[in-house]
This record gives sequence, structure tokens and C-alpha cells, in this order.
Amino acid sequence: MRVVSTKAELKSLLDACRLEGKSISLVPTMGALHEGHASLVRRSVAENDVTVVSVFVNPTQFNDKNDLKNYPRTLEADCALLEKEGADIVFAPTVEEMYPEEDTRVFAFSPLDTVMEGACRPGHFNGVAQIVSKLFYAVEPDRAYFGEKDFQQLAIIREMVRQLSFDIEIVGCPIVRENDGLAMSSRNTLLSAEERERALTISRTLFKSLEYAKGNNLAETKAFVEAAINETPGLDLEYYQIVDGNTLQAIEEWSDSEYVVGCIALFCGKVRLIDNIVYKDKE
Ligand code: PAF
Repeated sequence: MRVVSTKAELKSLLDACRLEGKSISLVPTMGALHEGHASLVRRSVAENDVTVVSVFVNPTQFNDKNDLKNYPRTLEADCALLEKEGADIVFAPTVEEMYPEEDTRVFAFSPLDTVMEGACRPGHFNGVAQIVSKLFYAVEPDRAYFGEKDFQQLAIIREMVRQLSFDIEIVGCPIVRENDGLAMSSRNTLLSAEERERALTISRTLFKSLEYAKGNNLAETKAFVEAAINETPGLDLEYYQIVDGNTLQAIEEWSDSEYVVGCIALFCGKVRLIDNIVYKDKE
């Protein structure tokens, strides 16, 4: 496995791979890797000749300076995990390497980015699109892998690929959960033992709501989830939205869509967590 920090080094490694006709994939990450990332890397390694994993905490997608400052950075441990999972290249650039000058590009993803994370974190998805497009230009992968935990991000990246005509297959991969149900997230390491215990209410409630939804309408199911979170001390709900999985717009009845997903965001203490659950799948 090679670890490089400049686009020039990356390009020379990838040019050689392309000359040999190898397929190239990208797994974009912000590091602090866990089993969720490992599952993306394993799938990428199984489906492509060369797997590039980027490790870069992207400043332009943080709308909160403290969040950026506190975001865990663990490059050495990340490289050990990536080596074990069979990644070929780690691209870990500096901020100056990715943003030699200010990126003033403004993307338009409305209405995908006007709801949920887009509404709560102004500018977040513009920053995600800035860095992911820069990574796509630098790597020119055949495929790129993203986790479905960031459900809205995945939809927006697909839209960005469509708008910018990237010839890249976007592969969405299922949420990976701890044995007790907590969705894996780099931010989980920031939770105290007590907060982590409280955070279990999130997945437990979402799973219970699947059963509840069988005998209740959508508004009742939404209220069921909201009440369970609001009744748990230490959890501060930002939103629970039940949406059409393609348009991300809130729906009112189960029958309004063939693909129905519940998306939640909340603070557990100072740590912001997201999760989601599929009520009706697209297939
Ligand atoms: O999902 C993430 O970790 C980040 O948003 C991404 C896609 C790596 C862009 O910085």
C-alpha cells in the first residue's frame, strides 16, 4: 500500500495502473476509520483492481468551527486498517494541496439540499460537492463507494455526478451497526460511556418504529419516534423526517411513495449523530 499526499504523486501512480488497463475505485473518507469504512473498502477491493482511499477532513463542509477542530484525526491507525483491508493507495493531502486557492464554486442541488441536513447545516453539501468533485477529478475512478448512513449525501453525490457528467458509478453501501445497533460513525468516539448508552435509543427507536408503522399511519409513526427521542434525557432532536427516498421530500402518507426512508439527526450531549431506516425499499 502506498501513502501519498500530493495530486502529482497520486496521478503518476494511477497513470501507471491505467496503462495496465486496471479498474480504479475511490473510497472518500475523512479518516477516523471504523468497521463501516472497512466494509466500503472490502467491497471496493473485491470489485476493482485498484482501490484508492482518500483521508481528508474537508474544512469547507463544516459549518461549525469547533466541530472541525474536534473532528478525530487518526491517520496512523487509519493506514493500519486500510493496509489490512487491502487498499492499494491512501491519498492523505493537506488542506493547501486540495485548496491552493479558495473554492468559490456554488452548486445547485435544490430541492435535495434544502431539507434535513441541508437546512440544519447551511453550506454543508456545497462543501461536500466541492471536495468530492475535486477528488473525482484527481482520481478519475471508475467507481466510488459511499455509506448509506449519510443518506442525503449519497443522493446529492449522485445528482452532482449527473450534473457534472462524471463517468463514475456511485455505489451505495448499507449502514454498518455495532452489535447493540448503534450506527457506526467516526463521531461515536467522542461520546462518553453514558452518552453512548443514551445514543442507543436512536437505533432502538427506529427499529421499533418499523413494527409500529405496520399498524399506524405516517404521522403517528413520526410522532412515535419524536416522542421516544424527546423523552430520553440528554438527546436533543433536530429532526425526524419520513421522506421519499429519491426526492428526499417529506411525505404525508405511506402510499405517497414506493421508497420511504426515515432520517433522523440529533445531538447526544455535544455530539451530532445521524441515522436512518428504510420503511419501504425501492426494489
Ligand atoms: O462522508 C464523508 O466522510 C465526507 O462527507 C466525504 C464524502 C468523505 C467528503 O468529505
